[in-house]
Amino acid sequence: MGLTRDTLKDHTSEAHRRLDETEPVKGLAGGTLSETSYAKLLGIYHDFFSHFENKMREDHRDIVDELGDFRFSKTGWLREDLSTLGRDAGVDAGSTFQIPDSLAGVAGCLYVVEGSTLGGLHLSKSGKGFPGGAGRFYEAYGDDTITAWKSFIEWLETRVTQPEERISACEAAVRTFDWFEERFRHHPQG
Ligand code: HEM
Repeated sequence: MGLTRDTLKDHTSEAHRRLDETEPVKGLAGGTLSETSYAKLLGIYHDFFSHFENKMREDHRDIVDELGDFRFSKTGWLREDLSTLGRDAGVDAGSTFQIPDSLAGVAGCLYVVEGSTLGGLHLSKSGKGFPGGAGRFYEAYGDDTITAWKSFIEWLETRVTQPEERISACEAAVRTFDWFEERFRHHPQG
C-alpha cells in the first residue's frame, strides 16, 4: 500500500501479536468473554478515546477535518455499548496518554486507531457476536471499513513522507499499542 504503512506494519506487528495474547482479546476472539469483563474492556477503550477525540478536536482540528469527523466518534459508540450492558460510562475522565504534537506522531497513533477497525470487522464477521449484544464500537464503519482504511492510508502516505517523520510515526504507534497492552494485561477477569 506504501512505504509509510509498510514501515508501521513492520514495527508494530510484534506489538499486535502481544495484544492478541492478552486475556480479554483471547476471550473476545473466542466468544468466551463475560459481560462484566467485556464492560471493563470497553471502559479501557472509553478512557483512551474520550481523551484522544477531545484533544484531537481541540489541538489537531486540521487533521480531523482532512480525515473526516466520522473517524472521531468512537467515544459515543462506546457509551452506547456500555449503556446496552447496563453500565454508566461516567464522565469523560480521560487517560494520561500523551498525544504527540507533531503531525507524524499523530499519524502513528491514528494508524493504530484506524487499523483496529480491521480487527473489529474480523470480529463482527466471525459470527460469534459480542457479549450482551453490545457491538457498536467493534462494528465501527461496518461495510465501509475497507474503504475507510484505504482512504486513511492514502492520507498517511501523502502526509508522512520523510524518513524522520516515519520514525516519529513508528514511535507513536508502538507507544499507542503499549498503552493498550499494559491495560489489557492488567485487565481484571470476572
Ligand atoms: C480485539 C481483537 C482484535 C483482533 C481479532 C484483531 C485482528 C486483526 C486482523 C485480522 C487484522 C488484519 C486485517 C486485514 O488485513 O484485513 C488487524 C489489523 C490491525 N489491527 Fe487488529 N485486531 C484486534 C485488536 C486490535 C487492537 C485493540 C488494535 C490497536 C489498539 C489493533 C490494531 C491493528 C492495526 C494497526 C492493524 C493494521 C495492520 C496493517 O495491516 O497495517 N487491533 N487486526
